[in-house]
Amino acid sequence: MTAPTPAAPTSSGAADADKPLPVDVHPAWLPPDAFRAIGSRRVHVHGSGLLVDTVTSEVARACALHGGSWVRTGDGVTADGVTADGATADGATADGVTADGATADGATADGATADGATTGSADLVLRVAGPGRGTGPEGYTLHRGGTATVVEGHDPAGLLYGFFHAVQLGEQAFGAHDAGPQVHGPALARRMLDHWDNVAVHPSMGQVERGYAGGSIFWRAGRLREDLGRAADYARLLAACGINAVSVNNVNVHRTEALLLTERLDDVVTLADLFRPYGIRTHLAVTFAAPVVLGGLPTADPLDPAVRDWWRRTTEAVYARIPDFGGYLVKADSEGQPGPHGYGRTHVDGADMLAEAVAPHGGVVHWRAFVYNHRQDWRDRRTDRANAAYDAFTPHDGAFHDAVVVQVKHGPIDFQPREPVSPLIGAMPRTRLAVELQVTQEYTGQQRHVCYLAPMWSQILRFRFRGDADEGSAVGRITRGGGLVAVSNVGDDRFWTGHPLAQANLYAYGRLAWDPDADPSALLDAWAALTFPAAGPDVVAVLHAMMDRSWLTYEKYTAPLGIGFMVDPSGHYGPAVDGYEYSPWGTYHFADRDGVGVDRTLATGTGFAGRFPQPWSQVYESLDTCPDEVLLFFHHVPYGHRLQNGSTVLQHIYDTHFDGAREAEELAARWDDARVQAAVGPDLHARVRERLAEQVHSAREWCDQVNSYFYRKSGVPDAHGRPIY
Ligand code: GCU
Repeated sequence: MTAPTPAAPTSSGAADADKPLPVDVHPAWLPPDAFRAIGSRRVHVHGSGLLVDTVTSEVARACALHGGSWVRTGDGVTADGVTADGATADGATADGVTADGATADGATADGATADGATTGSADLVLRVAGPGRGTGPEGYTLHRGGTATVVEGHDPAGLLYGFFHAVQLGEQAFGAHDAGPQVHGPALARRMLDHWDNVAVHPSMGQVERGYAGGSIFWRAGRLREDLGRAADYARLLAACGINAVSVNNVNVHRTEALLLTERLDDVVTLADLFRPYGIRTHLAVTFAAPVVLGGLPTADPLDPAVRDWWRRTTEAVYARIPDFGGYLVKADSEGQPGPHGYGRTHVDGADMLAEAVAPHGGVVHWRAFVYNHRQDWRDRRTDRANAAYDAFTPHDGAFHDAVVVQVKHGPIDFQPREPVSPLIGAMPRTRLAVELQVTQEYTGQQRHVCYLAPMWSQILRFRFRGDADEGSAVGRITRGGGLVAVSNVGDDRFWTGHPLAQANLYAYGRLAWDPDADPSALLDAWAALTFPAAGPDVVAVLHAMMDRSWLTYEKYTAPLGIGFMVDPSGHYGPAVDGYEYSPWGTYHFADRDGVGVDRTLATGTGFAGRFPQPWSQVYESLDTCPDEVLLFFHHVPYGHRLQNGSTVLQHIYDTHFDGAREAEELAARWDDARVQAAVGPDLHARVRERLAEQVHSAREWCDQVNSYFYRKSGVPDAHGRPIY
């Protein structure tokens, strides 16, 4: 798949429409067939600006593929499409679409409306209508009525998103008339992906930290890639699922990556130029020590005037080259990265200094709240990593500059398959917060296992801190101030994500960032229908059955009841039940011969449960009400403790592990359906099959190791006498 860098089409024809599509890179959710409904019709694009050029370029390409025709009108533009057989519509007639009389100052044509756009005889009208129709920034209306389907963008970005909505609807976009214009717009203003991509290959983390899909699509062996075609294609895929911000380098900023801010700014300019036509702003992860390592200053103290001046001047230089630069992303005083604490200053001092540098230019500072003591003594049962971010940040609520967005991981520990929602998210009402998810499957099977994560994210986004009745306390609402962020799962792998089915996570993430209340099951089906146009309802049903509950399957055969961290410390893949038990990382399960779990109650434990407001504080504190799925996160209980589901803790561990391993085998069997192979093609089918074999093997290993571990600790056999070692 290629995506031309969109340019205003010329009157000679269809932009880059005739570029051949390389066959080796999978088109993900934008295969040529996804454009059939639009590309086989008569399309009129009206409006001006870079993103309208992008829409025109997309339409031109679709029409070239599928035989339709297009016309573009707008400020200073009159252009006409070519039909698939190469007939030009010189003088503005292309298959009945007329731009007769289109003028350079805004188009009058058959059926022209007062604002200059025409419905004419087009089947699809795509136009920028401007504010005032119930839409907000990036919003649009979509109306199937009369003779044409009309998409009206509030602004050019809205038109771009409306266009991709019409692509997703396919033939339905042209179906029966609807009741009137439907208004669409993003719930969250910033919908961001963070790349943990290194410029220089890191000795232990490689080209992409926690990347499971090959190398970086931006960087290669210390330099910007020469061929950035994949990055351009990526921008297009992201726009089609609603993403509008990308941070292009790892939050752990090493020496080479630090230079992106100054000496290597050209590289960032190049990437920003690629992302801009798709409505995506570019952000950069920076090191807090930049004034020292780049500026030669003796200190990075945020209250030092010379340091502040360095950041101001450096930031001005960035904006001089990238006027729509999104801003900085900072991991400070976290896992060894430098920060304001090194100078006896606070997170507010550090973040505000940077905010003052970017704010005059319209940028933001994403300041991560992922802070904890990573040199903990495992013998110390009072210190609790789960409390760390809450305790460090809540005293500063209301103190941060408006341009600071505090970026909080969704759980209090670290992207485990199951954690309670971080109570910090509910405890900073006077601070702009962004919630950070992990699309890359660090702890959820590393894109070797099928693990559709949108159901987990949906649960998080719908979680209401003050109980069901208080809609305003939902995570998806709170995050409106700062947006949603996720760590990308993409690399230079030809299927983008290593495991082809992991594409669904990226797609669904974008859609949930646009609408946190979207139904993850419906998003899965939408993804499958777009990605596999040859799949009939029977094949979509097979994919649905494989993927919709795959997160729960993964949870079953790995760490039980919310306990987390039983992974192999070397790469976070595969089981090592005690791998972290005597480590300094603050991630323990405390299993002994009698029981397992972490006492995080207020009454007798670390007090973490008390960081939640009511009703959750009480719900988690009490053994009677704590939900089974997070029981061991909050309580240390004997193996014979009865869960709410009626089982004992130990029997539940045995049952879920046997069930999970069996479900993994069932996944693999489902994939062997001949109809699936025909719909997805042999190449993709083979890749998934290979990964499923590994999943089955790994699930069995998890099952046997975890079960044997608890059997050996407890001496209590499985009630059903199944093999335990
Ligand atoms: C995890 C991950 C690290 C990453 C860190 C972060 O701990 O394993 O590789 O740097 O999160 O979010 O900063």
